[in-house]
Amino acid sequence: MKQLQTILQILLCFSLAVSLANPVNKDGLVTLKSGKVVSRNIVGPASWYDAVKDCKSQGFELLTIETEQEWTDILDYFGPDITNRIWIGGTDLGNELNFYWISSGTPFEISSWHAGEPSGNNPTNGIKEDCVHIWNRTGILAMNDAPCELVYPYMCEFYDICARRLY
Ligand SMILES: *[C@@H]1O[C@H](CO)[C@@H](O)[C@H](O)[C@H]1NC(C)=O
Repeated sequence: MKQLQTILQILLCFSLAVSLANPVNKDGLVTLKSGKVVSRNIVGPASWYDAVKDCKSQGFELLTIETEQEWTDILDYFGPDITNRIWIGGTDLGNELNFYWISSGTPFEISSWHAGEPSGNNPTNGIKEDCVHIWNRTGILAMNDAPCELVYPYMCEFYDICARRLY
């Protein structure tokens, strides 16, 4: 039984490797220049919390953007498709204005925020802005922090169960 399981896993990982070698493959994944593998389709809409859950339930993670190259790739490939707001996996939940990626816990290394953002929690009206979206504000695409309960489309990133990593 154990042997069969191992053989099946080797076959699965082999077909996954072949599949990921194609920029746009049959499973609806896209391999970007940096090597990051994301779902071709923008999905949802849902709250940020439900977006995290939904991506995970399919073996994905809510989009994580760890380098400037990855940010550029996302805009190059998906820019025209992002017409309003798209949740990504950034948050400062539990640590106000210290943003990190929910998939990895890694702090933000990109700083592609809209002017005046992130604005953080509003001390006057108590509204919390703890979750990050890409915002197409009159043709300019940059990040903004917003209340996690708001319902927006979102993007999932492939998590390689064979290599046990994000790209
Ligand atoms: C931004 O949104 C507009 C429509 O609101 C769309 O035409 C455009 O392709 C989007 N993306 C960029 C990069 O401007």
